Parts: sequence; structure tokens; C-alpha cells
Amino acid sequence: MSSKAKAIFGNHPFTDGPKTEPIYMDSTNIGQFIYPDFGLDYSDLNYMYYSSDKMTVCSMEIGPGGFFNPPDYHPGDETYFILEGTITQFNPETGMCIEVKENEALLIPKGTLHSAYNFGDKKVKVLAVIAPKIVESQEFPTDVNGPKRILGYNPADFKGKTEDFRSAYRYGSVDQLGDWPENGALLREKKLIYHITEERKLKIINGDTRPILMKYSVSNDFHSVGEYIVPAGGVVTRRSEVICHDGETFLLGMEGPVAVYMMATRETYMLQHYEGLYIPPKTEYMLLNYESHTGRVIFAMSEYKG
Ligand SMILES: [Fe+2]
Repeated sequence: MSSKAKAIFGNHPFTDGPKTEPIYMDSTNIGQFIYPDFGLDYSDLNYMYYSSDKMTVCSMEIGPGGFFNPPDYHPGDETYFILEGTITQFNPETGMCIEVKENEALLIPKGTLHSAYNFGDKKVKVLAVIAPKIVESQEFPTDVNGPKRILGYNPADFKGKTEDFRSAYRYGSVDQLGDWPENGALLREKKLIYHITEERKLKIINGDTRPILMKYSVSNDFHSVGEYIVPAGGVVTRRSEVICHDGETFLLGMEGPVAVYMMATRETYMLQHYEGLYIPPKTEYMLLNYESHTGRVIFAMSEYKG
């Protein structure tokens, strides 16, 4: 395997047919690309973990003082999960500007223009999950002179564009799975970027006798993004119940390592920090924590079906 894995949107790591087996992602198959791939002054560095026609998972890095231009948009919803640093996210159409801190998330609905800035003194690293598709073709947006509602440039009155939006503050329950933090179609219609702070994550206890904590940043008809928190300790091996989803799943290793055990093949993948694992639809697996500290894994799933 080459040390430079080419990132192909819609098929990464490259396979000739459907991805029917688990694929572990490490330095041998994580792809690299720069966005945009022209005029690199205002670019960011990206690592491509996984991409199909259902979901793309990559990470993006911006150095202190940097930002990317042209603003990006996608034919699907995009969720940012902030891994490191503080990002300032801007919608040049509405003028909305949101500061998002480490471990917080942001939902950017389909078709919404967005660009990201790093005003901090620490590198920004963001996990980006886009579903169903990241791009229609293999090409990036090229409109570097599009809408710019920034002070002193092209001030426009966008008052009233957001005032009819429902209250952003509410607590959820399992009833809101598939509709969190807000109805997907409603957000797409209003092109409203949604800020999910730690308090606004949808917390779900998963498992009766072997509970793990799930924190959903997003759960809608296009995709779900969140965290599995697997506690340490106990007289028996600390593990989750069997997990299985209809859509494609991607796991990113955070605190751990967390063991991912495949029920059918009895294979184990030790999920290391910032490495990934693709899990095909309808595959049964379990998360185990053999460490003396809490394990944490970020999950991304395509196609929520109740
Ligand atoms: Fe994007």
C-alpha cells in the first residue's frame, strides 16, 4: 500500500464494488487533500477516512489565523465535530457567525454556504461528516467572489431572516432520535447552521444491564453523529450491548484504545486515537473497554430509520 492514499470522493478507501467488509483506517489508507486545490493562500488540510455515495468522513485542519475560501456547500447535510481548538464558522449568505469550541458540534444543512476561520492560537482540527454526498462531481466550489456579508465589505440587511426560527434550547429524549437538534427538512429550508453545545447534545443511555452513554450531536434523516462513552471497571469485562445499524457506520478513536469486536467473524480491531473503522450496514459489533479510564469513540452513521 502506498503511503499517499488518493482521496476519491464517493469511494474511499477505493474498492471495485460495494464495501461489504470492515475496513480499518490508519496511515496506510487515510487519504490527504487540500481544500480548495487552487489558490492555496486560503486553504485547509484534510484527511479522508471514508467516502461512499451515502456518507463521507474526513478531518480538516486550519492553522492559527487561517481560514478557507471559497465558502463550501454540499448536496447533503454536514456535521462538524470539533476535535481540537476553537473554530469560527461563517455563513456569507446570512452573515451568521458562530464560535464552536472543542467537543462541540455544528450542523450545516444541505446547500448552506459555510467557511471556517481560526482566530485562536491553537491549530483547529475538525471531524466532518457529510451525508449523503459530499460533492455532485469530483470538483470543489470555485466561487471565491460569492456573497460576503462581512462588516465593511458588502453590508446587507438580513434582519428577520432568522427571527421566526424556533427556540434553540430544549432537552431531548429517545423520542427525538431522527429529529435532533431540529427537523432536518426545516433546517435545510431555512439554511440555518445549528450550534450544538455540550448541553444541547441528546443524551441516551444504551443498554439495560451493560449501559454505555450515547451523546448525539445530530440525528436526522440524512445522518447521525455522536459519541459512545464506554466506562471502565466492573467485575466482568466492561462492554456495550450488541450494536447494529441499517446504514453505514464510521468510528473514530478518541480516548482508549477501545476494542471493537465483530460478532460474526470474532475479529477485534483496537481503535487507536484518531484512527478509524468503517463498519458495513447490518453488521453486529460490540465495544469493549479493557483500560482503567473511560473510553470514547465518535460515531457517524448514514440514513436514520426510526
Ligand atoms: Fe463543508
